[in-house]
Amino acid sequence: MKIFIVGINGKMGRAIASAAEAEGIEIAGGLDMTPGGQYPVFTKAEDVTLDYDCVIDFSRPATLDAVVSLAEKRGVPAVIATTGYSEEQLARIDALSKKVPVFRSANMSVGVNVVESVLPVLASALSGFDIEIIEAHHNQKVDAPSGTALQMLSAVKEGLDYEPDIVYGRQGESKRRKGDIGVHAVRGGTIVGEHTVLFAGDDEMIEIKHTALSRRIFANGSLRAAAFLIGKAPGMYDMSDYLASLKK
Ligand SMILES: NC(=O)c1ccc[n+]([C@@H]2O[C@H](COP(=O)([O-])OP(=O)(O)OC[C@H]3O[C@@H](n4cnc5c(N)ncnc54)[C@H](O)[C@@H]3O)[C@@H](O)[C@H]2O)c1
Repeated sequence: MKIFIVGINGKMGRAIASAAEAEGIEIAGGLDMTPGGQYPVFTKAEDVTLDYDCVIDFSRPATLDAVVSLAEKRGVPAVIATTGYSEEQLARIDALSKKVPVFRSANMSVGVNVVESVLPVLASALSGFDIEIIEAHHNQKVDAPSGTALQMLSAVKEGLDYEPDIVYGRQGESKRRKGDIGVHAVRGGTIVGEHTVLFAGDDEMIEIKHTALSRRIFANGSLRAAAFLIGKAPGMYDMSDYLASLKK
C-alpha cells in the first residue's frame, strides 16, 4: 500500500509517517502549506503527479477541496480524520463517498470507538442520571469541543428517550436544568486527548474515561482504516465497520 498524507508536516502527519515507516508501508508524499521533510511535499493538489493507493487526511477543514480532488483524480479511497467541518463540508464528503470509499472518524483510536459503542447502553440504563462530557486537549487545538466529544455526545443521545439541551460550558447564573447535557473543553500544554463521560446520580457517579497517551493510536488506526478501504465499494465507512470486519 502506498499512501498520500494531507497535512504531512503536522503533528499527526509526522506520527503517521513514522507509523508507516515502522510497518513498511510506502509513503508517496504529501500535501502541506509548510514545506520540508524527507518526502515530496506539494502545496497544491493540482501539482501532484504521484502514484498512490489511498489519501489520509489529518489537516484542517480548509484543505477539503484538495482532499476531494486528490481522491477523485486517482479514484482512490480517502481516510478523513480532520475535525471541525461545517454542515456544507460534511455534505461534500458525503458526495465524495458516492465516487470512492471514504472512512471518516473524529477519532481513529480503537479504544475510543469501543467506549462509544457502550455509551448508548449506559445512557439508556442510567435513567435520570445527569450527563456531562469533559474533554481536554493540547494548547494548539483549534476546534472546540473536540470531534470525539461530539461523537460521544451523539452516542449518548442514541440511548436517551428525550432530546437533551446541550450546554457548552457554564458561566454566571446557569443552574443545571433536567435534561441538559454539559459539554466542556479544557485546553493546555501537550495533552494528547482525554474524554470523560460523567453520569451523576443521587449519591453515585460513574465516569467513563479514555486517555490517549500518544498520537500513535490515531496513526495506527488511520493506517488500519486505509488498508480496510482498499478494494471496497464507494460509500461511507467508519470505525464500527472496521471493528465489525474483525469479527468475521
Ligand atoms: N480523527 C482523529 O483520530 C484525530 C486525531 C488527532 C487529530 N485529529 C485532527 O486532525 C487535524 C490535524 O491535527 P494535528 O494535531 O496534526 O494538527 P497540526 O496543526 O499539527 O497539523 C496540521 C497540518 O496541516 C497543514 N495545513 C493546514 N491548513 C492547510 C492548508 N490549507 N493547506 C495545506 N496544508 C494545511 C499544516 O501546515 C499542518 O502541517 C485536526 O483537525 C485534528 O482535530 C483527528
